[in-house]
Amino acid sequence: MSANQSIFPKTYQITPTGVEIGGCNLLELAKKYGTPLYVYDEQTIIDICTDYKNSFAKYHDVQPLFASKAFMTKAMCAILKKQNFGLDVVSGGEIYTAYKSGFDMSKVMFNGNNKTLDELKMALEYGIGHISVDNFYEIELLGKLSQELNKNQDILLRITPGIECHTHEYIQTGHLDSKFGFDLTQIDEAITSIISKYPLLQIKGLHAHLGSQIFETQVFADAVDVIFEQFKHIKDAFGIELTEMNIGGGLGITYTTEDNPPSIQTIADIIIEAIDVCSQKYGVNKPKIYLEPGRSIVGTAGVALYKVGSIKQVPNGRKYVSLDGGMADNPRPSMYQAKYTAVVVNKINETPVETVTLAGRFCESGDIIIEDINLPKLESGDVVCVFNTGAYGYSMSSNYNRVLKPAIVLVNSAQSDIIIRRESYDDLLSCDEVPDRLL
Ligand code: LLP
Repeated sequence: MSANQSIFPKTYQITPTGVEIGGCNLLELAKKYGTPLYVYDEQTIIDICTDYKNSFAKYHDVQPLFASKAFMTKAMCAILKKQNFGLDVVSGGEIYTAYKSGFDMSKVMFNGNNKTLDELKMALEYGIGHISVDNFYEIELLGKLSQELNKNQDILLRITPGIECHTHEYIQTGHLDSKFGFDLTQIDEAITSIISKYPLLQIKGLHAHLGSQIFETQVFADAVDVIFEQFKHIKDAFGIELTEMNIGGGLGITYTTEDNPPSIQTIADIIIEAIDVCSQKYGVNKPKIYLEPGRSIVGTAGVALYKVGSIKQVPNGRKYVSLDGGMADNPRPSMYQAKYTAVVVNKINETPVETVTLAGRFCESGDIIIEDINLPKLESGDVVCVFNTGAYGYSMSSNYNRVLKPAIVLVNSAQSDIIIRRESYDDLLSCDEVPDRLL
């Protein structure tokens, strides 16, 4: 079983002395570092990276990249470096974090639908491996920049393959109403523009990303087919043999028992098989593959610990149990109606006796972490652990209500280390300025 098929991190266990992740007692972590606290299990991240590498091992040339938008810190870069992963980055901030972590910038791919001139310049100056060019405006920006700096740059073209994923079904269309990438009908114009005007841009291949929290498998095979069809077309029309393909990320994880994502091996087998078939079907050589999973690498590894504060029983209605975090540290429930699983850490052996709603502390009625969950009788001071908060929780966090962002600890082999320290009130004010005339 791949780790993305479990609700719990790999090292999660209930021992006679309490609940542990990475050999660390969660109550003790909450006491030592305070709450809200994000806890990441290093072993789960390592196991998933290994799973990706092993599952694709039979293919001759694969480079997995971690989609850093899911969770980007310097410690994360250090873990990925050891795993020989590259990075998918989408902003100057992500590029800077990678660079400052001493990451091998040749293993970084820059994505995004509106990269700024400054970001592109930074990418070229830092020697980023690939830029996935998204649109005609970017061709001009990057093309001129490559001439100004006199730098060759390997690029992929991001395409919109016309495959739309939902969680349990998908559709294929000729065109897709998406802000990302070139429509298939625009590829010829893009290539013509690049080869006629900007010879320093080396078109290596195509990039397609299908969506996120995907449970289907056939979509990946269909995407391979779309890419190979374009490879053949580009070879015939321009005499250019593309040698690289980025198939994107998107593999889902198990937030609740309702979720049933495929294993990493299943996805790998589907992609490799599709490449075999398409290589023959279109008479095109097998390319180097890039993968860019985010959620499936870090989602399961991370949990959030919160402390229970106020409790309100609405007469003849719901019981709201308020936690000391919420939509600012994890906006997913309020943004996407995302569902989660939770336990009460200090009452792990008690049976659920009531249905409550775990609410956040932020000033919005929609700030609910889990609606209607069965838990043991909760009291103020209890510690709740919400699972699968490793991806797109902290990375999308904000200072809404001027609440401080939580700390993050990395656990492994009974050791816990801060990888993001808790924000201070002075951090919060560090960008504030008051014009003299107001003083
Ligand atoms: N590659 C590209 C080009 C992407 O846009 C994304 C995610 C990924 C890779 C990684 O996808 P993953 O393996 O993580 O599914 N904030 C949302 C998810 C947004 C995903 C955006 N793009 C959420 O919390 O569910």
